[in-house]
Amino acid sequence: MDPRLEALLRRMPKAELHLHIEGSLEPEMIFRLAERNHVKLAYGSVEALRAAYAFTSLQSFLDIYYAGASVLRKAEDFFDMAFAYFQRAAADNVVHAELFFDPQTHTARGVPVAAVIEGLEHACRRAHAEYGISASLILCFLRHLSEEEAFAALEEALPHRKHFVGIGLDSSERGHPPEKFARVFARCGELGLHRVAHAGEEGPPEYISAALDVLKAERIDHGVRCVEDPALVQRLARQRVPLTVCPLSNVKLCVFGSMAEHNLPALLQAGLCVTVNSDDPAYFGGYVNSNFLTLFAARPELGREQALTLARNSFEASFAGAAQKAAWARQLDAVAAASG
Ligand code: ADE
Ligand code: ZN
Repeated sequence: MDPRLEALLRRMPKAELHLHIEGSLEPEMIFRLAERNHVKLAYGSVEALRAAYAFTSLQSFLDIYYAGASVLRKAEDFFDMAFAYFQRAAADNVVHAELFFDPQTHTARGVPVAAVIEGLEHACRRAHAEYGISASLILCFLRHLSEEEAFAALEEALPHRKHFVGIGLDSSERGHPPEKFARVFARCGELGLHRVAHAGEEGPPEYISAALDVLKAERIDHGVRCVEDPALVQRLARQRVPLTVCPLSNVKLCVFGSMAEHNLPALLQAGLCVTVNSDDPAYFGGYVNSNFLTLFAARPELGREQALTLARNSFEASFAGAAQKAAWARQLDAVAAASG
């Protein structure tokens, strides 16, 4: 790759909008926390665990991801995990991050939601103080569980309402359409929470339309299968619905056979508000800059102009205020001018 393009990709300020904080647990930290909390793991070593990261589908990944999260017990565990992510994000010039977390994964093991949110929130504050990163939290409901359970998770989290800006929908997509969560998303709308949803990762384009129409999602996480419905692509472009795309994740989970086959360039070409994100970086081979670098290295049609568009889109698609977005856009312009 042109070294000037590589430097721009690394240095440009960017927002990360699709990051499951539990997916940032590196194997070394899994083992450290397992020891600290006396949790028995099914793998004997870091190497054996890493060797299991050969996924064939979303579900094959989720089984290992939930097992990895079982080492998280106390607020300090959530703090350590999230602060390690922020250190890496700062190195990648992430200036804003909206972190997904899965409370039901932890409360099912008897971990109080207060410990989850307090630990994560403390790390967000520290990231702002040490790195100037602005960070917020998005509570995700597990879609393989019932809507009743999602309501219970919301109820439990509401005493901590000021610490999260929105709600999302993740976990096993196929067979769990957005309609299943219509009422809980409506309630979250009444509470003034932002709404996002995973859709069109493995599931069909109809799930993307339902996430918009039924759940009133403001952003679609993944959404890459929208290309199967040209009218939907037109709608996403016209309404500037952001898609938080995760290139390394999509290749690791076999949504695309290789980076050379990824449709992100086509989505950009169609005028969609696409962003680049890392999803579960500890499992998929890299953090946000690795996603940019691997994608751009594989796709010669992507250059400086697309890099800047993707960074600009990340600010536009964020839930930050207008003045903050304008300030980041100016920072981006300054980096672009210096690298011109
Ligand atoms: N949970 C963590 N990563 C996920 C993904 N890529 N899709 C759905 N649920 C997830
Ligand atoms: Zn995701």
